[in-house]
Amino acid sequence: MRTACGTAAVAVCGGVSLSVTGCSTVPLVTPEIKYGGLSVSVSVLAEEASVILRRGLRPPIVIHKSEAGNYTALLLQCSHKACRPEVFEYSLDCPCHGSQFDFDGRVLNGPAEKALKTFPVTEDGEGNLFIALEK
Ligand code: FES
Repeated sequence: MRTACGTAAVAVCGGVSLSVTGCSTVPLVTPEIKYGGLSVSVSVLAEEASVILRRGLRPPIVIHKSEAGNYTALLLQCSHKACRPEVFEYSLDCPCHGSQFDFDGRVLNGPAEKALKTFPVTEDGEGNLFIALEK
């Protein structure tokens, strides 16, 4: 059993596991480590808006695909006091003091004042997303 945000059980199917956190269900995927970043197949976001990358990432990173098809990668660490925001359909909500963020990392509601840390996401033309961890 594994959890993404430490609140519930997970079912594993085909290398992708589902994490139930509060009211949200977010798949967990294991990325490859490549060239100072992480790589995952674009297909992991074919039917999901968000997936959480696991691979010893503490805090983990969530990748989100917008309705327009743009990808963002965000560190799941609240900019207020470093709790782990939960991933919902339209926002990332911090359970500690109630801050909310959009999927570009911007603060929707405080007390957080700074955005979540984001990472550049690019497509490699071979069906993979690359998340650059180094600048
Ligand atoms: S740690 Fe997230 S709102 Fe305080």
